[in-house]
Amino acid sequence: MSGAGQTVSGTIESQFQDRFPNSRRLAEQARTLFPSGVTHDGRWLEPFPIYVDHASGSRKVDVDGTEIVDYWAGHGALLLGHSHPDVVAAVQQQAAKATHPGACHALEIAWGELVRELVPSCERLRFTSSGTEATLMALRLARMFSGRTKVIKFAGCFHGWHDLLSPASAPPHETGDYSLPGVPDGIADDVVIVPPNDLAAVARAIEEHDPACVFLEGNGPRWGTVPVRPPFVQELRKLTRSRDVLFVLDEVITGFRVAPGGFQAICGIQPDLTTMAKVLAGGLPGGCLGGRADVMSLLEFDNPRGIKMKHPGTYNANPLSAAAGIAALNVIRDGSACEQASSTAAEIRSRLNELFARRDVNWVAYGDYSVVKIHPEYDGPRPDSADFIPWNGDWKKLDRTFDRRLSHAFRCALLLGGVDWMGWNGNLTAAHSAADVEQTVLAFDQALDLLRADGLVD
Ligand SMILES: Cc1ncc(COP(=O)(O)O)c(C=O)c1O
Repeated sequence: MSGAGQTVSGTIESQFQDRFPNSRRLAEQARTLFPSGVTHDGRWLEPFPIYVDHASGSRKVDVDGTEIVDYWAGHGALLLGHSHPDVVAAVQQQAAKATHPGACHALEIAWGELVRELVPSCERLRFTSSGTEATLMALRLARMFSGRTKVIKFAGCFHGWHDLLSPASAPPHETGDYSLPGVPDGIADDVVIVPPNDLAAVARAIEEHDPACVFLEGNGPRWGTVPVRPPFVQELRKLTRSRDVLFVLDEVITGFRVAPGGFQAICGIQPDLTTMAKVLAGGLPGGCLGGRADVMSLLEFDNPRGIKMKHPGTYNANPLSAAAGIAALNVIRDGSACEQASSTAAEIRSRLNELFARRDVNWVAYGDYSVVKIHPEYDGPRPDSADFIPWNGDWKKLDRTFDRRLSHAFRCALLLGGVDWMGWNGNLTAAHSAADVEQTVLAFDQALDLLRADGLVD
């Protein structure tokens, strides 16, 4: 992006520049400070991102005073919407008491007990500051417990951005070359990549590589871009157990979101280790690793194996995150918030597919639970059921990157209609209303007009 010339598309870009002048000014300032002007790659937007001043429920208000229906939901962390009153009260109360006692505190126990009650496979757990730290910790622990080095992961699964699990966390998948600049070959070589939903490939990889563990992301690569359904997870559980390989389920997104007990509750399985973050901490920073007591015992001083995994972390179990997490999980525990968010997402998927058919565009909406995924290069039959997966789940067709100009123009066009979509995904909360759904469908309809006017959609 630059201030000079149009980088996205004619009509959309000029309307966007006019509509969000205060964001434009802040973006110019930010570009002198942060690479590409942003503090998270996902927030990068051409010609510039919008700047948000405050938020409540399903909506946020930008620095130009525009009210926007939000589908980022705090990168998925906000199942209850922005500033849920219980979460706000809990954080305010705790902030006045202590933000960081540098000591054990009662809230960490209450938080941990709530997690274990909802996710019983977490016989023991430790809190971290993020999902990335939780998966890093899971892998190191699995290696120590098993005495083996390699890890099997599924192509396209994102487990955070540390070196060890970064390979193959996004397309392109065509060449099978998943080397990453900055990640040494020695590290990447220990990561064995298998195609999603391919149990035979996992069995072969276990045979060949004798891994420490198999990692699976909740309900499939990147929040179900390639959906993984319960029968596969159940079979994977059986396979890993029979081969004595630890099974790590990464529930950083799905935990407390798809159901209070996460995707493992839906599948009726117990992984050996589970990583969680996002909803766990009610929208504040926080993560955790939980699992089998014997595996987690390697974190104990003086454990019978005589080897201890070190686990520091200045912000582990921070009391503000604990307070927010307890407040959020107490609302979520009866399951109604998860169901509400999932049912609104289903409604949006269905309404958008009707719209795409009526407008005769080759777009499709799909996804499981509380996400709406848009695929703008679809050439198959229109969806005929709620659990439809485009191309019958062909993962390379589902998981690919789209034209950069289209991707940016699409988001800008939706913002012009008062909707902030997270790339090609929308995350729902329990706070999204029927009025939000109407505004969203209208914004998509208008966005298609704008994209057509700019020659980005046929
Ligand atoms: C499945 C999954 N695992 C791990 C992570 C990393 O979590 P964090 O961003 O808290 O480091 C994410 C983040 O989006 C995720 O979606």
